[in-house]
Amino acid sequence: KRPRQQAALEDLDQYINIAEGRMSRKVFWERDIYEQELEKIFSRAWLFLGHTSQIPKAGDYVTTSMGEDDVLVVRQKDGAVKAFLNTCPHRGNRLCFSEVGTARGFICNYHGWSFGIDGALRGMHESAAYEASGFDKSKHGLHEVAQVDSYKGLIFGTLDPTAPSLKEYLGDFAWYLDTLLDMDGEGTEFIGGCVKSVMKCNWKFGAENFVGDIMHAGWTHDSAAQAMLGGSVGELGKAPDSYHVNVNGHGWEFNLDKVGNTATFGDKEVRKYIHEIQPKVAERLGHTRSMMIGSVSSATIFPNMSFLPGQNTFRVWQPRGPGEIELHTWTLVNKSAPDDIKERYRRGTMITFSPSGVFEMDDGENFEYSTRTNRGRVTREQDLFLGLGMGSKIDHPEFPGNVFQGQINEANQRAYYQRWLDFMKAESWDDLPQR
Ligand code: FES
Ligand code: FE
Repeated sequence: KRPRQQAALEDLDQYINIAEGRMSRKVFWERDIYEQELEKIFSRAWLFLGHTSQIPKAGDYVTTSMGEDDVLVVRQKDGAVKAFLNTCPHRGNRLCFSEVGTARGFICNYHGWSFGIDGALRGMHESAAYEASGFDKSKHGLHEVAQVDSYKGLIFGTLDPTAPSLKEYLGDFAWYLDTLLDMDGEGTEFIGGCVKSVMKCNWKFGAENFVGDIMHAGWTHDSAAQAMLGGSVGELGKAPDSYHVNVNGHGWEFNLDKVGNTATFGDKEVRKYIHEIQPKVAERLGHTRSMMIGSVSSATIFPNMSFLPGQNTFRVWQPRGPGEIELHTWTLVNKSAPDDIKERYRRGTMITFSPSGVFEMDDGENFEYSTRTNRGRVTREQDLFLGLGMGSKIDHPEFPGNVFQGQINEANQRAYYQRWLDFMKAESWDDLPQR
């Protein structure tokens, strides 16, 4: 019996007080809270699975996870994408050990059950013994992820058959996503594979950092930027025409001052490329959205997928317990970009936001210590602050969703944790308000 934690779970509302801009540290630490997150958030929300460019042909697959559930994402013969729990229904062994590949089917290492790319059980080693036992193959296929869908190349899945469509889940946030995914109608792709690393931090620290914390860049990252990239980033986020926007807990911060001002942090060729394509993007998406490309900008799709549009770095903060994550990182480029530019983007990811990247090391240390300090029994009872930019909400003639003036703001963090609270409290999707 752990009465303290039990009581705490009943008091979720007291954990995060949006109006007062404060939150409890327990959401980064308590095991019971974490278990609830797996159930209430990761078993229900639409989660990022991959990019269509990773699995172009029938039988192409990638393995990833949804919360702590391992999944196998496979292109079908009819071109659809299906996803399955990556576990054998016989005794539960991991089914596919490879991270990416092409297969005609999947065979379990343990007793030799084999499955088609559609998840159906095709055959078993020692099949006569099963036949003698009246075994019905049709009842023992792979457990299928309830819904899989994609938005302009990004594949998402939900384990909840009652979840609303992906379109509804993203809502007006898709309008912003187009500035990254639909610059020229030629599509995008992931290049250079997936980089995986482990951080000893709570998964929400990465997500809330990318949802709207440009403020830390001019402090945390300034010395690395000056040493490695030849300039200060101290002015980031201070442009007058800058915003926090959010829709249903998804958040994006950006400014419209200078096109391409953080494109791979100073790679002149990439900046030149951004400037060259901007007029065409303006024709397609309008002037305002064309000013967002490659600007000081970062975003999170609730709950755990983030990206930096200027860097074209995509990542998922995969939870591995309350105090650990597996971080998956990719580089996204326009398919139509010249090869040299694609390679520059990839190198940009490697020197900034990869395990060897200068900014990843800065962030990782902050996230890990922000998690670790909460081990203190008294420390974990002390509230945290997220009240910057109260009262900065505005109406904007073009931007959909909730719009806030200024990037030095915590409006998106508040919206993110409000959504977290919504999910944790909701018994069903009917209880989740549009925000
Ligand atoms: Fe897979 Fe037995 S656990 S075949
Ligand atoms: Fe950072």
